[in-house]
Amino acid sequence: MAKKSQATWGGRFSTGPADLMLQFSESVSFDRRLAPFDVAGSKAHSAMLAHVGIITAKERDAIHAGLDAVFADITTGKFTWSTQLEDVHMNIEQALTKNVPAAAKLHTARSRNDQVATDMRLFFKHACAVISEKILSAQKALLAVASRDGDVLIPGYTHLQRAQPVFLAHHLFAYLEMLERDRDRFAVVADHANWCPLGSGAIAGTTLPIDREFTARQLGFVDAKGRPRVTQNSMDTVADRDLYIEFASACALFGVHMSRIAEDLIIWSSVEFKFIDLPDTFCTGSSLMPQKKNPDSCELLRGKSARLQGNLHTLLTLVKGLPLTYNRDLQEDKPPVFDSFDQTALCADVLAGTIAGMTVFRERCAEAVADPALLATDLADYLVARGVPFREAHHAVGSVVKLAESLKLPLDKLPAAEVMKIHSGYGDDWAVVFDLKRAMAMRKGTGMPGPSQVKRQFVRWRKLLG
Ligand code: ARG
Repeated sequence: MAKKSQATWGGRFSTGPADLMLQFSESVSFDRRLAPFDVAGSKAHSAMLAHVGIITAKERDAIHAGLDAVFADITTGKFTWSTQLEDVHMNIEQALTKNVPAAAKLHTARSRNDQVATDMRLFFKHACAVISEKILSAQKALLAVASRDGDVLIPGYTHLQRAQPVFLAHHLFAYLEMLERDRDRFAVVADHANWCPLGSGAIAGTTLPIDREFTARQLGFVDAKGRPRVTQNSMDTVADRDLYIEFASACALFGVHMSRIAEDLIIWSSVEFKFIDLPDTFCTGSSLMPQKKNPDSCELLRGKSARLQGNLHTLLTLVKGLPLTYNRDLQEDKPPVFDSFDQTALCADVLAGTIAGMTVFRERCAEAVADPALLATDLADYLVARGVPFREAHHAVGSVVKLAESLKLPLDKLPAAEVMKIHSGYGDDWAVVFDLKRAMAMRKGTGMPGPSQVKRQFVRWRKLLG
C-alpha cells in the first residue's frame, strides 16, 4: 500500500514507496554496522560547517551532543532501526533531528553519496588494522611452534613426493613470509583508504564555502606529516569502488594462503604422515565412527577461502559496466565486503588457535627425514665438486638409485664397489653425503634451510613480529 512520502527526499513525490519497494531497497539491515563511522563523519562535517560559519558553534554543539546520545542508544541496543528510513545514514539523521532542531542543517553541503564513501573509508582503515593484528597473532603462533621444535627436520615436498630435507622451522617460516605479504597488502589498502571524500557531494561538490581539509583533519585522513588528504575528483569519489575490490582481494589472497597452510596441516596430521597432532579443541569427531578425529578447522579454512574469492568476484561484477557516477547497484557493495571482513577475521583467529595447539611428533619426523633418497641431489653435487658436469652427475646418481631399487637396499647401504663401477667420479667416500647434519650445514646461502640461515631467520622474525 502506498504511504505518504518520508521527509528526507519526499518533496517531489505524491506517494511513498510500496512496502515491497521498501523491503527491496533497504540497507539498514546490513549497513547499521557503519554507525560509529557515520557518527564520526557527521561530527566532523558539522564541526567544519561551524568552522566556516554555515552553522553556529551552539548548533554544532547541540548536533554533537545529539549524535552522542543517538550513538549511546545504538550501542546499548535501545535504538529502533527502521527499514522505512532505508539506510544507516537516514536512520541516524532522523533520530537526531527529532531531538535536535539544528540537525536539520547537518546535511548541508553533503550527500549520502560522499557520506557513504566516507563511512566506508573509515571502515576499511579499521578493518585492515583489525585483520593485520590477527594475522600477526597467527604469525606469532607459528613462530612459537618453530621455536619449540626448531631442531626438527622433515622432508620437504614437491608434487607431494619427498624432495629434500628441511628444518620444520624453515617450512613454517615460509608461512611467515606469505602472511607477512598479507599484512603488507592490508597496510597498502589502509593507505589507499586514507583520503577524505566529504565535500564531493552527490557528484559535483557544493556551491557553499566549505573547508574540505578541515574535515579531513578531523577524521584523521592525514599523511605521515599530518597534512590532510582529500580526494581530487568529485565524480570519481562517489563512483569509485576500487577499495572494496582491493580489500576483498587482500582477504581472498590471505584466504588462499590460509587454505594452503590448512592443507599441509591436514596432510601432516593424517595417520599416513603423523608429523603433527592437531588440538582436540579445533577438531571434531564422527557421529558414526568412534575412532575419528577430523581436522575440521583446517577444512573450513580451506572452504571459507572459496567464499572469500566469491565475494571478490561479486564486487568485480557489480562495478563492471556501471556508468559514472553513483548508481544504486552500489548499495550491494556492502554485504560482500562485510562478509569478507567477518570471515577473514574469524579465519585468522581459528588459524592462530589451531597452530598454537598443535603438537609435533618428533620421532615420526625423524623417521621420515632419515630416508637417504632425500639426499640424492647431494650425491650429484658431490660428483659436481669432483669435476663431473651436472647433467652427467644427475644421470650417474639416477643409476645408483636404480641399483638401490633393484637390490632393495637403501641408497646409503649400497656396496661402495658397485657404486664406484657406475661412474669414475665416485670415490670410496661417496656415502659421506648421507650424513644429514653435514648435508644441512652445507645449505648456508641466504634463504636456504641450513642451521645458520634458520638461526638468522629466527632473529629476523623475532624482531619483525615483536
Ligand atoms: N544506502 C546507500 C548506499 O549504500 C547510500 C547512498 C544512497 N545514495 C543515493 N543516491 N540513493 O549506496
